[in-house]
Amino acid sequence: MAETTTGTGLPKGFRSAEQGWPELHRIPHPPHRLPLLGDVLGADRRTPLQDSLRLAPELGPIFRRKAFGKEFVFVWGADLAADMADESRFAKHVGLGIANLRPVVKDGLFTAYNHERNWQLAHDVLAPGFSREAMAGYHPMMLAVADRLMEHWDRELAAGRWVDVPGDMTKLTLETIARTGFGHDFGSFERARPHPFVTAMIGTLTYAQRLNAVPAPFLLRRAARRNDADIAYLNRTVDDLVRARTADGPGDGDLLDRMLETAHPETGERLSPENVRRQVITFLVAGHETTSGALSFALHYLSRHPDVAARARAEVDSVWGDTAVPGYDQVARLRYVRRILDEALRLWPTAPAFAREAREDTVLGGLHPMRRGAWALVLTAMLHRDPEVWGADPERFDPDRFDPKAVRTRPAHTFKPFGTGARACIGRQFALHEATLVLGLLLRRYEFRLDPAYRLRVTERLTLMPEGLRLRLERRRSAAGALPGSDALEPSSETRCPVHRAAD
Ligand code: HEM
Repeated sequence: MAETTTGTGLPKGFRSAEQGWPELHRIPHPPHRLPLLGDVLGADRRTPLQDSLRLAPELGPIFRRKAFGKEFVFVWGADLAADMADESRFAKHVGLGIANLRPVVKDGLFTAYNHERNWQLAHDVLAPGFSREAMAGYHPMMLAVADRLMEHWDRELAAGRWVDVPGDMTKLTLETIARTGFGHDFGSFERARPHPFVTAMIGTLTYAQRLNAVPAPFLLRRAARRNDADIAYLNRTVDDLVRARTADGPGDGDLLDRMLETAHPETGERLSPENVRRQVITFLVAGHETTSGALSFALHYLSRHPDVAARARAEVDSVWGDTAVPGYDQVARLRYVRRILDEALRLWPTAPAFAREAREDTVLGGLHPMRRGAWALVLTAMLHRDPEVWGADPERFDPDRFDPKAVRTRPAHTFKPFGTGARACIGRQFALHEATLVLGLLLRRYEFRLDPAYRLRVTERLTLMPEGLRLRLERRRSAAGALPGSDALEPSSETRCPVHRAAD
């Protein structure tokens, strides 16, 4: 694995794309490049990803952009992206936005450099927390949180109000990871404003993204102070949570129990208290922000495509019948609902890019020499629109692209919303189970009415979210005429952690 020795993740001596890519001049960049400033004309620092999506078709499958002396290489052509998925020659690169999160979570699972020992240790200790058996254990808790969302939506519906889709999906996914991972309850559905943990988390993600778009960090002095306060709040919240667990004794075998109690099966090593704190923040953040976006985009498309929604409802009715509370195995059987989710993640992979670095000197796609440590961003959102793979109309929403027959005809490594290789998403099955379950429950209970004036606007803060998306609901009767019951679900109040109840 490429040994990284500088804060940028590059081996000592590499400072810029020019040094890592000996034939950089052959890689196209946008027209009208300005001396010193770079490719800033027409760029919007709030939407770097969407700017890249606009530039990509004219610049081609590999291109570069420069801002304030920093040059980045972007790859999105299917052949080149597949080459970068070759684990024997490439590895995850911790750079840009992810490196900017290092002050928050240092060697936590998501931000660890490949050579840091704690990555392997935490990966081995925590991976069983995502096994099929563990997932089946989380299922009733996921149902209980979904039930709270539906109670909230029933109230909004009765009051004739629009529902705030990204806001409510964020409440749902935060409560789900907090409950399943840490036995904690942030009380999101009982509060009018987002939990301060969410505000602090969004603050740190936004700051990490803004750092990439300024010539020097000192220009964000005030924002940096706010960021320090946000980090301190995240740390305090997590320390309280861990303290409460240590005082009360083990939970029900959740992620926190694993972090505190499990020794590495071979070395017997355990995570240090510092590292536990970093992992808890990592999982609370990584475990909800992206899933919330995925659910929000899926609901957007469902409201725009009543034919797709009707087909999905028919599937839910047929697979779940009048079962009030769907079992764990009944979720994976919602194959069409899952395709809707995949198609939403194709168009808007909520983690829209990931970075890969060369383990040794190599030639990307047989054309572009790279020195060891040189890196590029795989632009997932554009890879998912490559016309060579997805056809002439890649913007069209069509869940049948994920019909098993259609999937088999596509080359490998063309659908990568969860990243690739050893550092791909550990929470993939968790996210897919949660999101399919919730979409199934919502489709069964409601009809979604769109706001005709709404045009999709996508906010970027390292992850993507449909900004301002709201829906009006109508209550639907299930096939058997009964409404999905909630009595059988776990009572949410008993799961509440005493920490923060008063302070929030
Ligand atoms: C739709 C939802 C999700 C998407 C689109 C997503 C996407 C990703 C991507 C692209 C990566 C790789 C990043 C890179 O290469 O730099 C990643 C890594 C990661 N994800 Fe997710 N994720 C999702 C849900 C989750 C959930 C639910 C959890 C936890 C419960 C989670 C935890 C993590 C962690 C810890 C890593 C780092 C893994 C490592 O480096 O070993 N993610 N995710």
